Amino acid sequence: MFWLIIISVILIIIAAAMLIQFFNVIFRGFAPFISTKPKVIGKIIENMDFFGQGKVYELGCGKAGFLRAVELEYPRAELAGVEYSFWPWLIAKIQISLNKSKIKIKRKNLLKVNLADADLIYCYLSPRLMKDLKEKFGRECKQGTKIISHAFILPDSEPDKIVELESGENIYFYTI
Ligand SMILES: C[S@@+](CC[C@H](N)C(=O)[O-])C[C@H]1O[C@@H](n2cnc3c(N)ncnc32)[C@H](O)[C@@H]1O
Repeated sequence: MFWLIIISVILIIIAAAMLIQFFNVIFRGFAPFISTKPKVIGKIIENMDFFGQGKVYELGCGKAGFLRAVELEYPRAELAGVEYSFWPWLIAKIQISLNKSKIKIKRKNLLKVNLADADLIYCYLSPRLMKDLKEKFGRECKQGTKIISHAFILPDSEPDKIVELESGENIYFYTI
C-alpha cells in the first residue's frame, strides 16, 4: 500500500509537469524541449564571432549543450543559461556540477531576464519567442551584441550570415 501511494504521487507529479509544459507550449508560445545536435553546435562555434571573453547566454538552455561546448573552447567566457522547464533545468544543473563547470543556470522565464550585459546570445526557440525577443534585444542589449538563432529568424532584421544545415534548417547570425 505504501509503495502504491509513493508511485501514484510520482506519477501525478510527472503528469502535472507534462500538463504545464503542454500548456506553456500551446497557450504561451514557449518552445518545446529539443536539444541542438552536437554536430550543429560544432558548426555554430566554427562560425560565430567570439574571441573568448565576455558574457554568453543560452536562452531556453535545455541541458545547456551549447554553453558546455563553448566552455570547452573558451574557458574564460562568462556563461549563463536560462530555462523555465524543471526537468531540463535539473539535468543541466546535475551535469554542470558533475563536470565542475562554472556555467550559471537560472530557472526563469527568459523574457524576464535582463540582457544588458550580453555579448553573445544563442537561441533555439520558436517564431513567437523570437518576435518577443526582437523587441527585448532592441530595448536591453548593447550595440555589438551577437545573436545566433537556430532555425528561426529574428523578425525584420538583416542577418550578417546564414549557415545552411544538412537538415534543411538554417542558423542565423545577427549583430544588434
Ligand atoms: C528547442 S529547446 C532548445 C534547448 C537548448 N537550447 C538546445 O539548443 O539544446 C527550447 C528550450 O527552451 C525552453 N523554453 C521555452 N520557452 C522558455 C521561456 N519562456 N523561458 C525559459 N525557457 C524556455 C524549453 O523548456 C526548452 O528547453
